[in-house]
Amino acid sequence: QNIPLITIDGPSGSGKGTIATLIANHLGYHLLDSGAIYRVLALAAKKHALSMDDTLALADLAKKLDVVFSVDALKNNQLILLEGEDVTQTIRTEQVGANASKIAAQPMVREALLARQRAFLTLPGLVADGRDMGTVVFPNAQLKFFLTASAEERAKRRYMQLKAAGENVKLESLIDEIKARDERDTNRAIAPLKPAADAIILDSTATSIEQVLDSVLKEVAKHA
Ligand code: C5P
Repeated sequence: QNIPLITIDGPSGSGKGTIATLIANHLGYHLLDSGAIYRVLALAAKKHALSMDDTLALADLAKKLDVVFSVDALKNNQLILLEGEDVTQTIRTEQVGANASKIAAQPMVREALLARQRAFLTLPGLVADGRDMGTVVFPNAQLKFFLTASAEERAKRRYMQLKAAGENVKLESLIDEIKARDERDTNRAIAPLKPAADAIILDSTATSIEQVLDSVLKEVAKHA
């Protein structure tokens, strides 16, 4: 049976997480936040005192990782449990993001996480958000999007988010970090950040989330 599947790839801060969540809610589909899996793994590695370079141990941990994704019934928010502990907020720091990007460059780690990601594809359908959803994890997806925006604009968005969450950050260093992460994600040998040949590319530098959502929904309707 062909299970409906929409992939949304792009760099951090492009708005893909927000768009993916809105589309999944709108269609009543499941949501795969693949970046969160890499973040949880990075956090788990830290917790178990593993080095971010120890590929074998990281791949082993990835296979055994005790992580549960659910929806907080009260707040209708994403809820992520690592070994039973609520890590929904703690995985969102810049430090965890940087470590996630380091471990995500390791082929054995990515391989170890493939089956776990593909298991999210169940009825009534899936919206998968990440870097390689349309290229590697779900190359046969019917509808693929690639969301992008300038590094400065993405840093500005991150800055507002982190400020609102009470984190003390500097815009300049965020711009540098985002560029460094882009560089690593784009130039890595395995599953680099790039649009699938059949992806629809949307640039949100000068458009609001609502406008991007509107464009995505129009494409979804065309494919329905
Ligand atoms: O999207 P998010 O910022 O949460 O992802 C954290 C890191 O995980 C990214 O910088 C990227 O290196 C990695 N990642 C990946 N492939 C994915 C999703 C995330 O390599 N599909």
